[in-house]
Amino acid sequence: MTQNPESLPTINHELCISCGSCVAVCPDNILETDTSGRIVIVAVKCMQCGHCYAVCPVEAVSTPFLENGLNLVSIPGLHTDGGAEVSTGALVHMMQQRRSCRIFTADPVDVSLLEDLVKVGTTAPSGTNSQGWKFVLLPRREDVIELGTITADYYRRLNKKAANPALRFMVRLFGNDALGHYFRTYYQSIEEGLREWQENGADRLFHGAPAAIVVAGDTSSSCPAEDALLASQNILLVAHSLGMGTCLIGFVVEAAKRDRSINVALGLDINQKIYSVIAVGYPGIEFVRPAGRKPVSLKIARLGQEQMRRS
Ligand SMILES: Cc1cc2nc3c(=O)[nH]c(=O)nc-3n(C[C@H](O)[C@H](O)[C@H](O)COP(=O)(O)O)c2cc1C
Repeated sequence: MTQNPESLPTINHELCISCGSCVAVCPDNILETDTSGRIVIVAVKCMQCGHCYAVCPVEAVSTPFLENGLNLVSIPGLHTDGGAEVSTGALVHMMQQRRSCRIFTADPVDVSLLEDLVKVGTTAPSGTNSQGWKFVLLPRREDVIELGTITADYYRRLNKKAANPALRFMVRLFGNDALGHYFRTYYQSIEEGLREWQENGADRLFHGAPAAIVVAGDTSSSCPAEDALLASQNILLVAHSLGMGTCLIGFVVEAAKRDRSINVALGLDINQKIYSVIAVGYPGIEFVRPAGRKPVSLKIARLGQEQMRRS
């Protein structure tokens, strides 16, 4: 693949000390030290990860095709270079304390804060550095309600189908018990949620959140789902660190897999898929200690030894 020279890093040879750090970290091997000791670009397939810029001790590498620095507007307490000290203890404590918030105050979330959350989200790794994520912000409660209404319409139709025993039987005949599984697992609670939504506006979907962030991805990226979910986790954590509440809303993601009208309403293209929907706001309740976790399931593998035993 040939690449426009403007999308490749450049080296300022007046600054470069030829330490070779950029050569060592480049995953595409586009940099080399030539016979005279100069760092040169030798290939043109660059994934634009920015590692050469990030590792250079003398700022001799430029990557003008990337934005360096998050340029946050509403998140306080950060240096522009991101250089705030965080102890491991503080980080782990924050991870432990984050909870899915299902009780929100009515306080709105400033759109610039939502934008900052998303910018922090994009510090996540992405497959082949594609950064193919697409974010849709819903800063107004009425838009969150509208997304909830479209989603509720989908589940109303699905519940109608699932309530039909003949249809469940027919679908199972074709070796697919998805409708039966849905009926047994979700039908009843969804039916209740839909009734409450209709009768008294109780919002069991978005839990009354005043805002939401939809994280979609370009399906032509190498790992769009993983990229979107890693960015989402960043968003959850930084929002928590700011005293905000978040909750992933998988019910909307599931509905969007089968009902294109959700993507259309959000202005997403045909090649963009929704991987997470995050309810965002301020918590109406405080958790005073971390929730426990199930015992970790892990094992230690020694594959080399296993192979030796087999041979
Ligand atoms: C993929 C995914 C989808 C989820 N969907 C929903 C949802 O639709 N509604 C909801 O209230 N919580 C949802 N959650 C939140 C989980 O129920 C929650 O993470 C889990 O119970 C653990 O609680 P914690 O986040 O407070 O640690 C979802 C979580 C994940 C990871």
